[in-house]
Amino acid sequence: KEIVLTGITTTGTPHLGNYVGAIRPAIEASRVDSNETYFFLADFHALIKCHDPARVQQSRLEIAATWLACGLDPEIATFYRQSDIPEIAELNWLLTCVTGKGLMNRAHAYKAAVDENLSANQDADFGVTMGLFCYPVLMSADILAFNAKKVPVGRDQIQHIEMARDIAGRFNHIFGEHFVLPEAVVGEDTALLKGLDGRKMSKSYNNTIPLFEGEKKLKKAINKIVTNLLEPGDPKDPEDSTVFEIYQAFATPEQTAEMRQKFADGIAWGQAKKELFELVNGELAEAREKYNELMANPAKVEEILQAGALKARTRAQSLLKELRESVGLVNFK
Ligand code: TYM
Repeated sequence: KEIVLTGITTTGTPHLGNYVGAIRPAIEASRVDSNETYFFLADFHALIKCHDPARVQQSRLEIAATWLACGLDPEIATFYRQSDIPEIAELNWLLTCVTGKGLMNRAHAYKAAVDENLSANQDADFGVTMGLFCYPVLMSADILAFNAKKVPVGRDQIQHIEMARDIAGRFNHIFGEHFVLPEAVVGEDTALLKGLDGRKMSKSYNNTIPLFEGEKKLKKAINKIVTNLLEPGDPKDPEDSTVFEIYQAFATPEQTAEMRQKFADGIAWGQAKKELFELVNGELAEAREKYNELMANPAKVEEILQAGALKARTRAQSLLKELRESVGLVNFK
């Protein structure tokens, strides 16, 4: 079977970008018989950006409930919290010891922090923790602990998966072929959804459209999407429109073609946003109800995650045993 794995960092409320970039394709992959799927809450990763325990805890529940509400079947996919799998932390160290510092210097997340510091005339590494610097190694451990081949993600994560490939290749070169080289799977229409302000939709930019915060909030957020000043009747360019881009991520090809025509015919922004809301809300309404039920029943979510952790650990333990032997950590006889 082909192993498909992906995770979401538990630092905020899940948004449409997470849904179209990762959750939806991952759940589709879990329904294909020839796949074996692993989905998880990246709660160790959350500690890199967030030192507010209540927020991390709340986000873990929200993201778990989101996966389940969107149709993840825990009988089919293995669904767990990263922090419940100590083997991931152990593998993180084995990988750290073969990862060049120079490779980590090139990681986007670290470089962005450095650039920000330099432009504020601060020391380059001001506020940079080792967690942030080594973030791609931990992500490699997530992927390699299960020897995943396919990783469905948005475009912003491609570099990290390429790094996981590099690190896996390096380990294999030194200690023998233990790892499959992973690949990112990125959808064409959904590679990187824009947010309210036209930048990448991201928790860190505060420009997200939340998935399940209710119909009213969804409508309000969609109405806030920034548009240009064209009036009703003026032809509009779909390629340069966040409204169109999000529409396309939820529409059938026929619906997209119709909307493209409406843009050419000069649809009013208010009308386009109304149609966008109806489309998105139609796809999410049923899942939102399930989400609310799960949020009201955290014990049920806990039970599912503990069962998932057990399955995941069994798998990771046998690989870790093999890896420990390969690096020379073997019991004396
Ligand atoms: P995170 O939590 O930032 O995002 C979770 C997933 O959502 C995708 N995504 C988007 N896709 C399209 N458009 C957007 N605007 C958008 N914003 C976010 C991300 O690409 C991602 O797929 N480091 C990862 C979590 C992680 C992980 C892993 C992923 C940890 N270990 C192992 C895969 C495999 C992260 O912070 O994603």
